[in-house]
Amino acid sequence: MIDLILFGIFPYVAIALAVAVGLYRYLVDRYSWSSQSSQFLESRALFWGSVPWHYAILVILLAHFLAFLFPAGWGALLGRPLRLYLLEVTGMALGLSTLIAVLLLIVRRAANPRVARVTSVVDWLVLASLALQVATGVYIAFTLRWGSVWYLHTAAPWLWSLVKLDPQVQYLAALPLVVKLHAVNAFALIALFPFSRLVHVVSVPLGYLARPYQVVVWNLRRPGTEPK
Ligand code: HEM
Repeated sequence: MIDLILFGIFPYVAIALAVAVGLYRYLVDRYSWSSQSSQFLESRALFWGSVPWHYAILVILLAHFLAFLFPAGWGALLGRPLRLYLLEVTGMALGLSTLIAVLLLIVRRAANPRVARVTSVVDWLVLASLALQVATGVYIAFTLRWGSVWYLHTAAPWLWSLVKLDPQVQYLAALPLVVKLHAVNAFALIALFPFSRLVHVVSVPLGYLARPYQVVVWNLRRPGTEPK
């Protein structure tokens, strides 16, 4: 029963909430639809956290999606040991980078009172949930060997069953607790997304790849400085 609630019902509730609240916020309070830069309050830790975070998490999520969308092709790619090792080692390195980066982003928000002051309870929840997501992902990658292969026979069919509106929770039911936590927390993140700064992910933030972070420039001239 608990599996049905977590893996058969909760994903739909999370997606419905994300779409409904996200649309409402977009239409009613569009100005808030951003990550709300705090770069002018502190920028060094933001740079070292945010840039590796965005690159690494995008590649990891792309791998999750490709394996889900093209399981046969992904399986063929991993069919040779060398390619499997290379992919797993790359995944582990990227996973560790995301873990370090998200911890840095948390420390930055907690350590600087000015940044902490502009951080809502939901923003903290999202950061904690992101940290849990990458920590469990890295734990799975390091301890439950060849996740990229068994993902194809467990997570991918489960996700497809959700898409087909015919949830087959048995694909996840027999997996270790940490995998279940990783899967359910992914949908918790989706549910939290419209309430937080995370909404910026659907603003097609491709500029982030070329530009490290939003640069805020003071508009007021400081005393004693001449205009150039
Ligand atoms: C918000 C969505 C998600 C995020 C941010 C995320 C993040 C991550 C990260 C950072 C890793 C570690 C990568 C590595 O070190 O190789 C990982 C691995 C993994 N994730 Fe996710 N994940 C998400 C959703 C999911 C979902 C829905 C599933 C389905 C159950 C899943 C299954 C896995 C598996 C099986 C691995 C291990 C891969 C391996 O051993 O190579 N993830 N994830």
